[in-house]
Amino acid sequence: MNTITLAIHGGAGRLGRRILTCALNDQRFALKAVVVRAGSAAEGQDAGQLAGGNASGFLAQSDMTALLDCDVVIDVSSAAAGAGLSAYLAKNKGPKLVTGTTGWSANEDKLIAQSANDIALLRSGNFSLGITALLQSVRETAMRLGAGWGVHIHDSHHSAKKDAPSGTALMLTNAVCVGWGQQVEPQVLPIGEVIKAAPQSGEIIISVTRQGDVIGTHYVNFIGPDETLQLSHEAQNRDIFALGALQAAYWISDKPAGLYNMGDVLRLKP
Ligand SMILES: NC(=O)c1ccc[n+]([C@@H]2O[C@H](COP(=O)([O-])OP(=O)(O)OC[C@H]3O[C@@H](n4cnc5c(N)ncnc54)[C@H](OP(=O)(O)O)[C@@H]3O)[C@@H](O)[C@H]2O)c1
Repeated sequence: MNTITLAIHGGAGRLGRRILTCALNDQRFALKAVVVRAGSAAEGQDAGQLAGGNASGFLAQSDMTALLDCDVVIDVSSAAAGAGLSAYLAKNKGPKLVTGTTGWSANEDKLIAQSANDIALLRSGNFSLGITALLQSVRETAMRLGAGWGVHIHDSHHSAKKDAPSGTALMLTNAVCVGWGQQVEPQVLPIGEVIKAAPQSGEIIISVTRQGDVIGTHYVNFIGPDETLQLSHEAQNRDIFALGALQAAYWISDKPAGLYNMGDVLRLKP
């Protein structure tokens, strides 16, 4: 088994710390660098202790050049920082990048696509096995039922989440559109607003709640004239994302430049 040298960008965050812990306990990886925001309280802290474990002997730092000396970087910082990072790695022709950040603007989206011309880049707003399978089920259900049905997608997360709707809700929207074979702009309700009328056929409505410490719950209701079909997923801890990110990092370590997603890792049909 090859050992993959790994760096984590955004290692001081909620998800970054879980990835850090899981990576330190995974023999497939040798952790080389943990990069945090310049000026963060985590800068200069021992990386192992940052994750709540034993001292690992190397320190979290803000110097981006530390990322260049490894096989794969996992990014769980922010959309703006992640987009900048992708351009930086593309300019240096490596390392490979797995980014899980969400809330991308159209320009940041473009930057990611361009960067994938120079490096292998995997992007997913949700690294969990369950959501990856759910995306495929949603796509297939939308295709089988057709656009004669309406769709209501619900996204529920903790109150500190910065973006709304979630990256997962947007991926579910895209899965419906792919299944229908047509692009539909979803109607996004303000945070906390309850859906008042069922979506019309061919319409997608997204509702959002932000409360407490909910890690991530999504459901997709397909609403027909006299029946409703619901597909749903509930994340019970952040390790499902951390382990998925590590699976993605291992998978991408020998891939050529290009843009990949979790469906590629799990060999699910597009
Ligand atoms: N793909 C998935 O499966 C998945 C699952 C959960 C969450 N997410 C996404 O992953 C991202 C992080 O989520 P989270 O809950 O961990 O958020 P979080 O707790 O806010 O963590 C983000 C971390 O990134 C740091 N950061 C910001 N700018 C940086 C920079 N330029 N360089 C290095 N570090 C930087 C932040 O530092 P400061 O706090 O000091 O600013 C913070 O420590 C979000 O976009 C979230 O939506 C993805």
